[in-house]
Amino acid sequence: MPKESLTVTDNRTGKQYEIAISNDSIRAADFKQIRFKADDQGLVTYDPALTNTATCTSRITYIDGNKGILRYRGYPIEELAEKSTYLETAYLIVKGELPDARHLAMWRHNITLHTMVHENIKKFMDGFRYDAHPMGILVSTIGALSTFYPDAKNIHDLESRRLQTRRLIGKVPTLAAWAYRRLRGLPFNLPDNELSYAGNFLKMLFRMTERDYKPNPVLERALDVLFVLHADHEQNCSTNAVRAVASSQVDPYSAVAAGVAALYGPLHGGANEAVVRMLQEIGSIEHVPEAIKRFKAGDGRLMGFGHRVYRNYDPRGKIIKKLAYEVFEVTGKNPLIDIALELERIALEDEYFVSRKLYPNVDFYSGIIYQAMGFPVELFPVLFAIPRTSGWLAQWAELVRDPEQKITRPRQLYVGSEERHWSPLEGRSEPEMREEAVSDKI
Ligand code: ACO
Repeated sequence: MPKESLTVTDNRTGKQYEIAISNDSIRAADFKQIRFKADDQGLVTYDPALTNTATCTSRITYIDGNKGILRYRGYPIEELAEKSTYLETAYLIVKGELPDARHLAMWRHNITLHTMVHENIKKFMDGFRYDAHPMGILVSTIGALSTFYPDAKNIHDLESRRLQTRRLIGKVPTLAAWAYRRLRGLPFNLPDNELSYAGNFLKMLFRMTERDYKPNPVLERALDVLFVLHADHEQNCSTNAVRAVASSQVDPYSAVAAGVAALYGPLHGGANEAVVRMLQEIGSIEHVPEAIKRFKAGDGRLMGFGHRVYRNYDPRGKIIKKLAYEVFEVTGKNPLIDIALELERIALEDEYFVSRKLYPNVDFYSGIIYQAMGFPVELFPVLFAIPRTSGWLAQWAELVRDPEQKITRPRQLYVGSEERHWSPLEGRSEPEMREEAVSDKI
């Protein structure tokens, strides 16, 4: 058996250290003992953007980015997308096992019991400007839920955690649908607990005056599959935000609001909105080669391409591409798909994208489906946040129960001024003209 350790020689001192390897990882804290001087703080590992640092152990989601594998609790995403429903998958993600029929019925009942929100939420939704982005409304309203449920601060109480989990999974679609209705100047629709999770959401979004709104079953199923695909994705930017914020032992509403805020950014949940805008800007297949040239020159990015962990096809992207054609059978073809296909064809033959292992990610085709289904682009990141809520909550519960976790507090490498001293105003030169001035422009 080879020894499970690393021998490190510090060439500054000639000293050797043995660092244990476990799970193909070394502990950054083991490097603290490596000191040049007796009073220095020891070596730290420098990893801006945490590109090669594991911050937790997890049993929820497995990804092999090189092979394009994604599994929730061991189950391949392809099987879940084909055979499961979002609520069943959410149960799996949160509780670790697939439910039997009785537990699934109980779970469904327990979630739908919480689809209503307090009437006061409508009032403060009204305070937003007429054109407020629904993601901004979602960040605020989810955060505000913590003031309605002060019991949520009992994060070490299992029953309280379960209750907040059911509340959040139940209420997020209602908040999301209302944020959209507000943007459109339409009255809010109440939840309909007779419908499926996706069907109820579609009804809250799109019901106008009909007494008996029935979602189209193909679109309802397509949305449910999209929810399954977005339910968790291990330690991505928003999950990391949820975990970091939750590590202060704040309530889960505040932590999930932080996740939604992270998801709002164009490099994360905003990417599918950016893809659609990009495809609209490109406008036609003839302009694709020119656009590719621009992206290669660093003038913008080919949105929906590339991923921090997938250096191969994102398996969710493949499923969504197939799903797009099922949706188009009902909605008619979204012409942007032709531009997307051409971009994909050219990019996958181009040395720039091939050598950097840039493949279509989940967002490359999802926006095209959403648009065909009648969702406005502002709603795209919201459609991501709804299913990701179950993933965030599973990750939160895992963090709370993990005895190794503490408040998240990374280190930094200080590269600023040495100690200096305050001087009176009259004696100061212009800040930027000072010899020691740094170039940060804030
Ligand atoms: N278009 C053009 N070039 C790209 C792209 C792209 N979409 N993505 C990466 N590159 C290039 C970079 O310029 C860099 O080139 P260089 O080595 O010559 O400097 C190289 O590929 C590596 O890129 P990084 O930015 O270092 O990769 P990172 O892992 O940090 O970024 C990210 C991943 C943010 C997803 C990136 O690929 C990107 O911006 N893609 C477009 C936005 C997007 O689709 N985001 C959705 C991600 S999936 C999700 O959140 C659900």
